[in-house]
Amino acid sequence: MEKRKLIKYNLMIPGPTPIPTRILSAMNHDMIGHRGPLFSAVMKEVMEGLRWAYETKNQIFIYPSSGTGGMETAVVNTLSPGDKVIVLNIGNFGSRFAKICKAYGAEVNDVKFERGKPADPEVLKAELKKGPVKAVFFQQNETSTGVLNDVEVLAKTVRSAQPDALVIVDAVSGMMAAPLKTDSWDLDVVVSGSQKAFMVPPGVAAVSISARAWKAYETSKCPKHYWDFGLMKEQAPKGHTYTTPPESLIFGMREGIKMLQEEGRENVFARHKANRDLLRTASRALGLKLLADDAHASPAVTAIFPPDGVDAEEVRKLMREDFGMEIAPGQSELQGKIFRIGHLGYVDSFDLIGAFAALEVLFKRLGAKINFGAGVKAAMELMV
Ligand SMILES: Cc1ncc(COP(=O)(O)O)c(C=O)c1O
Repeated sequence: MEKRKLIKYNLMIPGPTPIPTRILSAMNHDMIGHRGPLFSAVMKEVMEGLRWAYETKNQIFIYPSSGTGGMETAVVNTLSPGDKVIVLNIGNFGSRFAKICKAYGAEVNDVKFERGKPADPEVLKAELKKGPVKAVFFQQNETSTGVLNDVEVLAKTVRSAQPDALVIVDAVSGMMAAPLKTDSWDLDVVVSGSQKAFMVPPGVAAVSISARAWKAYETSKCPKHYWDFGLMKEQAPKGHTYTTPPESLIFGMREGIKMLQEEGRENVFARHKANRDLLRTASRALGLKLLADDAHASPAVTAIFPPDGVDAEEVRKLMREDFGMEIAPGQSELQGKIFRIGHLGYVDSFDLIGAFAALEVLFKRLGAKINFGAGVKAAMELMV
């Protein structure tokens, strides 16, 4: 088919995610004094909303930062150089936790799992038997592989082996895409980011802090200033932050959380699950291999192997150039082997059917041996 000029850009990556007009409009707001009552009221609403999302009564702080900054707050506020920690590493973001801990002088037991698999609680149990650790770090959802960890079971495993060890969870891509019960699962620090299921642009990291984590903060000797929980704690009762807050994003967060509350927690999770199942059904019907197995497949992002003889990076390039669709690459050892489609946030079934149709056209153009149309048909069957 002759090449047409593209006018539409379709963002199909696992964050940043597309932003609903309602949120964009809410962000289009005058700047207001961040030490005054108007802003305090907005901030307090966002904090309440975040506590709803996290299912917690714990204190939550908002940092002007990407998700990685949120991960760093968890490290510098709880650890001291020389502390022993376990990182359950199921992908790139697990490796990132290990790097941050090492950068601040922690002694890291970097427990790596095969890519595409979740962290095995039995392996964690064995590692915990080797001696006391200050903290265990892991992802709720590993974005680089499209795998969901069983946070509840992993947290329980830590608690029963070492009741004082901190459980620190990176929920940047999992928060509001999959259930996460901060209080009933007894999670000490939980990190999220604005640019994922909250449907807000990048730039806000939110961090919840348990009583156990506050106790660790009292003795933590990692150097810190910008990330210091204590500086935020002084300001929080006033609805203020230590530094100038990213006001536009906070207006966006207020609207994003409102939209999620209107949709209803269970409906939000059901939508993400349906997105996951649609892509997996379509992929299988077309004969494509998936990286994660069904039991641990992420409701936020799916990692897919292209058909035999097709390069994953070529797929990404052509999806962008021929169809205006941006999909995500494989990372580290998976680069060039898989591509990933984000389905968290402001994404629904027919966005994904459109993306899958584009993939099928592209595979056919590349001469791949596929049953043309089978993926989209299987996805449509799910909708009937
Ligand atoms: C699971 C996970 N953790 C941490 C991050 C880091 O977030 P950021 O890129 O906003 O620093 C990401 C980003 O994609 C992520 O998916």
